[in-house]
Amino acid sequence: MSTIPLAVVILAAGKGKRMQSELPKVMHELAGKPMISILIDQVCQLSPEKIIVVTGKDMHDLREIVKPHQSVIQTEQNGTADAVKAALPALEGFQGNVLILLGDEPLVPMQVLEEMAAYDSPSAMAIIPPDPYGLGRMMMDEDGQLMGIVEEKDCDDQQREILVCNAGNYCVPSSKLAEWLEKIGKDNAQGEYYLTDMPKYAAEDGVPFDVFTMPVDHVWGINDCKQLAEHEQVFREMLRDAHVMNGVRMVDPSTVYFHHDTVVAPGVLIEPSVFFGPGVRVDQGVHIKAFSHIEGAHIGANTTLGPFARLRPGSEIGEGVRIGNFVEIKKSSIGNGSKINHLAYVGDCTMGEDVNFSAGAITVNYDGFNKHQTTIGKNVMIGSNVNLVAPLTIDDGAFVAAGSTINEDVPADSLSIARDKPSIREGWATKFRETKNKKKIEAEKKAG
Ligand code: UD1
Ligand code: CA
Repeated sequence: MSTIPLAVVILAAGKGKRMQSELPKVMHELAGKPMISILIDQVCQLSPEKIIVVTGKDMHDLREIVKPHQSVIQTEQNGTADAVKAALPALEGFQGNVLILLGDEPLVPMQVLEEMAAYDSPSAMAIIPPDPYGLGRMMMDEDGQLMGIVEEKDCDDQQREILVCNAGNYCVPSSKLAEWLEKIGKDNAQGEYYLTDMPKYAAEDGVPFDVFTMPVDHVWGINDCKQLAEHEQVFREMLRDAHVMNGVRMVDPSTVYFHHDTVVAPGVLIEPSVFFGPGVRVDQGVHIKAFSHIEGAHIGANTTLGPFARLRPGSEIGEGVRIGNFVEIKKSSIGNGSKINHLAYVGDCTMGEDVNFSAGAITVNYDGFNKHQTTIGKNVMIGSNVNLVAPLTIDDGAFVAAGSTINEDVPADSLSIARDKPSIREGWATKFRETKNKKKIEAEKKAG
């Protein structure tokens, strides 16, 4: 780690017009995490003395989510150089390297930033992307030093052919920053103060920027929803890799969608097409079968889930539980060893250990106005197609007969049954078939 003190300035005040959304651009999420938070968390690995985020004046929510880091306001969005100027008062008294980053590129590789932060001369990051369209082009001399950056809109035909592009990240000695910023004017296609003009003035000053170049295989910068979606893919892939490296077994990782905060124990087996929403924790020995959708849930050790299972927020699943196909669970705790194997709904329920909740059984938790609680003890047998009309308590060891609609509490070790007695008419089916067949033959004869 570098001995040069480091401050980080993140530019995030742009309106992000191309996103066509009211939300400040850097608050858009990748795998459920605002891009600004992804960037800040990464940058913290560099242990900077301070992180300053430049925001627009109406961006209160943005200033909230970047806390405890400092934010400053750029009153008018007059360009990236003007944005850095807004951070100067917050850098007062700081001596060291100032790393300037763009808030709309959260997946910037940290190794390169680390090298730049430790470098004792000004530097800029260059990329060779699949498509340079829209990016500034790096004008370098024979020694690879940066003489200037020309924005796509200001490029002539020859400059546009240059494939080495500006990543938008720079590391500048604090002692020179204000001086170089002061020189930047706005005589360009967009009439803005471009930060990209700074290397030119540094070179004129005899302190040219060095360039850290790296190839990238994805679009650079998030300016519109297409680029957001492309970054989301890259970030999801990074999450998959992290889980695989942590010992999670996946049959087809490309079809498994983790939320940024998903916690999965090593050794867990995940089949294809599984989606994790926010707040999921999966303990060791769990097997998640294909096509399951899980959010806001803790899955205890050695439990099997799916295929086609849905866990909704507030699901606390015990150990060794079996949750099978087409089962939905919401705001419920399921005791160790319980089985809910087929086609069931369990909502607002506390279920004890070793319960068998059979096919088609449901908790009737909603009366059209309020939600009600169902409490099921341990070793309870709930038969198939049972409606448990909440509020309801079923005590330990009770049996509820198949097909029953139960709206009274069931005491321990008792049987509760609520269904019509079947009436059986022997020979009825034979007679019915005979009559029907006769009528059919007569009708066919008539028709000729
Ligand atoms: C910028 C660079 C371009 C580079 C590209 C890399 C400039 C002039 N151009 O272009 O050379 O190849 O990034 O992605 O710097 N911002 C402010 N205040 C402003 C304007 C912008 O804070 O007044 C912030 C934005 O919120 C954004 C970042 O600066 O996070 C970059 O601005 P953006 O308009 O996206 O620049 P690009 O056109 O992508
Ligand atoms: Ca951009």
